[in-house]
Amino acid sequence: MMPRVLDGTAIAAAIKKEVANEVRALAGRGVRPGLAAVLVGHVPASEIYVRSKVQACAELGLYSDLITPDNSVSTEDMLDVVASLNGRDDVDGILIQLPLPKQVDAKALIDAVSPAKDVDGFHPVNAGKLQAGRPALAPCTPAGVIEILKRSDLRIKGQHAVVVGRSDIVGKPLAMLLLHENATVTICHSKTRDLGAVTREADILVAAIGRPGFITQEMVKPGATIIDVGINRLTTREEVDLFFAGDMKREAAFLRRGSTIVGDVHPKAFEVADAYTPVPGGVGPLTIAMLMANTARAAKMRRGL
Ligand SMILES: NC(=O)c1ccc[n+]([C@@H]2O[C@H](COP(=O)([O-])OP(=O)(O)OC[C@H]3O[C@@H](n4cnc5c(N)ncnc54)[C@H](OP(=O)(O)O)[C@@H]3O)[C@@H](O)[C@H]2O)c1
Repeated sequence: MMPRVLDGTAIAAAIKKEVANEVRALAGRGVRPGLAAVLVGHVPASEIYVRSKVQACAELGLYSDLITPDNSVSTEDMLDVVASLNGRDDVDGILIQLPLPKQVDAKALIDAVSPAKDVDGFHPVNAGKLQAGRPALAPCTPAGVIEILKRSDLRIKGQHAVVVGRSDIVGKPLAMLLLHENATVTICHSKTRDLGAVTREADILVAAIGRPGFITQEMVKPGATIIDVGINRLTTREEVDLFFAGDMKREAAFLRRGSTIVGDVHPKAFEVADAYTPVPGGVGPLTIAMLMANTARAAKMRRGL
């Protein structure tokens, strides 16, 4: 049987439609959710991400403001920016695009964002609430993974979910969300002994590692659901051949753009899965959709709606 491809683009579109409806309903009550994005300097990937986020706001009817401090900005100046956004009534969500220049203390900034406006879900208050099972703004990518599983009618309850990666942004919060959905959760990382033996136990295998094609077919239990969070850019022919030799579509894409992306799961590994998220078009599109959903939610929570 061919594995089922979990279409993140379609799921993200459905979520965006729901958010747009919610924004319309809020407009009837005189509320327009607003997102402020802070983009420091000129990191090309960050510029693309932030542009897509601002564009999504426009499409869905949210207000957005883009603040672009210079690359030489200090932590103190950034703290002033955050303080001013915390105080603005037209701003419900504050997004600080990472990575930040070396001289800026990213943790201090994350801590300075009002937890009520922390639509990235990175503030320790929201991380704590998530762990305690209280209503919280959850990080967008992990929240998106749960939406993919639920909206694809994939069972989470009672399943053994193995999450490879323990970052504060993806692995840890996702493990917590899966636990709240009654999965039995194992978290793996770079010090895990015999990783393959653990991943082969997974009914739901999540890869959030940041290493191209790291999860190979031998590491997957046949019939598992694979969620590939990884986004790794391949820029040389050797790299592309390593993962996509003989794949005409990828070849063409690489020739056209000079690069292509691969997840943290080797494409061959998907062949033994029951269902999987492709890269691109899997988890990626959910991140922006969930950011929009979090901003609308923050607007309601802040007003007690
Ligand atoms: N789809 C999206 O929208 C989206 C959003 C965010 C991130 N991403 C992608 O997701 C991936 C992970 O991102 P991240 O921010 O979580 O990365 P990260 O902060 O670098 O964390 C990577 C995790 O992988 C673990 N790891 C590294 N090498 C390993 C190995 N050999 N065996 C087992 N575990 C290993 C690390 O373990 P240690 O903790 O022991 O170092 C760490 O916990 C990246 O490809 C990123 O681009 C995608």
